[in-house]
Amino acid sequence: MSWYEDLNLWSGFSEVLFTPERERLAADVVATSPLFAFAPESRVLDQCCGVGVYTVPLARHGYQVTGVDLHPELLDRAAAACADAEVKASFLQVDAREYSSPDAFDVVVNMHTSFGYFEDPEDNLQVLRNAHRSLSPGGRLIVDLLSKETYASWAGTPKIVDVPGGMVVMRDRILDDWARYRTEWTLVRGNVAEHTSLTCYVYSAAELRSMFEQAGFEEIECFGDLNGGPYDGAATRLIVRGTKARPA
Ligand SMILES: C[S@@+](CC[C@H](N)C(=O)[O-])C[C@H]1O[C@@H](n2cnc3c(N)ncnc32)[C@H](O)[C@@H]1O
Repeated sequence: MSWYEDLNLWSGFSEVLFTPERERLAADVVATSPLFAFAPESRVLDQCCGVGVYTVPLARHGYQVTGVDLHPELLDRAAAACADAEVKASFLQVDAREYSSPDAFDVVVNMHTSFGYFEDPEDNLQVLRNAHRSLSPGGRLIVDLLSKETYASWAGTPKIVDVPGGMVVMRDRILDDWARYRTEWTLVRGNVAEHTSLTCYVYSAAELRSMFEQAGFEEIECFGDLNGGPYDGAATRLIVRGTKARPA
């Protein structure tokens, strides 16, 4: 089994991945960021939606949201979060390498480093191709991740994140001449420790831009935060946005 197929990683480490703080940030970003100011009632595909951190605020904003993810248990949590928030969204259990729905969406979002998971680089490119295929002409893809440039300042420095009743120790290591990284996570609660690790590609802005081009996107832009700030030395994330061309 590949690491991303392991539900224990996503649900066992939920408290560091899907935090109330991230929910508040996502709600704020969707309400105020120019990057998320889509046309009213836009059809939005939330690729690798997890427990719905972005699905809920996108649906609350009036967009017609479809959340897709590999893990049915996470989709159940996303559906429950939508029910709690009294908003509607649709959910599908799919593999992002395989799922596309031609011309079905105005926007595709892929948030919080949900990209670069697959060993074969062609599979990662396929996720972008599937997004391109799923967009109607003029539609946009937004990918948000930790990039080479934003990761470089702290890669290798262990981090400790407090979680209710315990802590998660995170250690990471750069692999393959900065092509990939491995993160080791240990959750310690009382005298019980749980361990997991994940290995992911890490892209520079230039590399991800080139993948967007290969997938067919045009008007490709890079931003350094979720509010659309510049991708410069102060960037905290890499957000790449591309457009599917309208026919000439
Ligand atoms: C870092 S989480 C981010 C979730 C969500 N986008 C967010 O902002 O909270 C990555 C998600 O990718 C999903 N995932 C992993 N491999 C996948 C695959 N092959 N196809 C679809 N989803 C996948 C995981 O189940 C997980 O929910």
